[in-house]
Amino acid sequence: MEYRYRCLDCGREYPGDRVRYLCPSCSFERLPGKFARGLLEVILDLDGLPKSGEITPQDLFVYRIPDPSAFPAGNTPLASPRTLSREYGFAELYCKLDSHNPSGSYKDRASQLIAAQALHFGEDTVAVSSTGNAGSAMACAGAAYGLKTVLFVPETAPKNKLMQSVLYGAQVLPIRGSYDEAFALSIAFTETQGGINRNTAYNPMTVEGKKSCAVELYRQFGRRAPDIIYIPTGDGVIYSGIYKGFRDLRDAGLISSLPKLVCVQAEGSCAVSRAWRSGGVADIPEARTVADSISVASPAGGRYALKGLADSRGWCTVITDEAILAAQLELSRKAGIFAEPAAAAAWAGFVHDAPKLEKDAVITVLITGIGFKDMDVFGGRAAVPEPVEPSLEACLERITRG
Ligand SMILES: Cc1ncc(COP(=O)(O)O)c(C=O)c1O
Repeated sequence: MEYRYRCLDCGREYPGDRVRYLCPSCSFERLPGKFARGLLEVILDLDGLPKSGEITPQDLFVYRIPDPSAFPAGNTPLASPRTLSREYGFAELYCKLDSHNPSGSYKDRASQLIAAQALHFGEDTVAVSSTGNAGSAMACAGAAYGLKTVLFVPETAPKNKLMQSVLYGAQVLPIRGSYDEAFALSIAFTETQGGINRNTAYNPMTVEGKKSCAVELYRQFGRRAPDIIYIPTGDGVIYSGIYKGFRDLRDAGLISSLPKLVCVQAEGSCAVSRAWRSGGVADIPEARTVADSISVASPAGGRYALKGLADSRGWCTVITDEAILAAQLELSRKAGIFAEPAAAAAWAGFVHDAPKLEKDAVITVLITGIGFKDMDVFGGRAAVPEPVEPSLEACLERITRG
């Protein structure tokens, strides 16, 4: 498909002839302590799209996904959590299980398109910085497509995510520093060594890859959008991807209005929410939450997400770490959905807002990552019981004791 890039800040346009990252004019104007400027968005030439509504995510991608079955990202199920629907009183409540992706998180969607970009331009190396999931997703896609992944990750990332990347064969560099330092290092790497840089938001194709979920939801809801979508947010790129997907569908004339997109953030990591409330775009001094995947002080896709908030008439919901951990247990015990803390944050956002939502609204909560990613987070809250003697009496005694 034909496409061009447009700067979110100055509106300058650039041809879609090669790999591009930030707007060369605006990215130099970065002010310390403010959200990154110069993000490029992809503007598609939608004329050739099928008008029948029979659209697939591939129809909105600028690169062809090579052999999608080699790395089957997306096409994730939509669960209707019946007990929770009843308890909260919503007939049309759904969880989009992106935890079912090959590496266990939503990040596989972007990594698949970045792999396609690398193959399209004949590159064999992809560098990425990550709080954990983007790295393991890229490592997984890299393994599937025969690409080398170089991963810059803060040493504090959950061990399971790092181990996953090691097992997929990535070159893993745990950095003694913050995510922001890992981000800068990965850019210095590709600027000097070449290859594709997959940093979230920095490479506009990360937003493009993440929009496939919107097309799937449109199809799963019978060619319409749900009314409200809850999206856990750190850098704001999943949020931007969902927004861009529905915007493309609207621009193509397939839906008339966008769903309301709710940006859910943890109290200790809520830079986008603060900016939305105050109208400013200031980083927060330090991000601190149990939900490592949404722990971001300087949201790389913050400006894009703010655009989506305004266009979709969405809002920000801020929740506590306690609410995130409670949501994780509630999803597990009452819906059989095992979500990592960042993903459970979306559910916590819904629970927070539930009393003020219309009961007949069609609501989707994005479950962006699987719980196995971070088992340490349970601490003393859940434990495997002590062994029982191998007799029925001993078992029954344990069972009746609860
Ligand atoms: C499981 C999960 N949920 C939510 C997010 C937040 O996405 P974003 O940083 O694009 O806002 C991430 C990002 O790493 C993630 O891994």
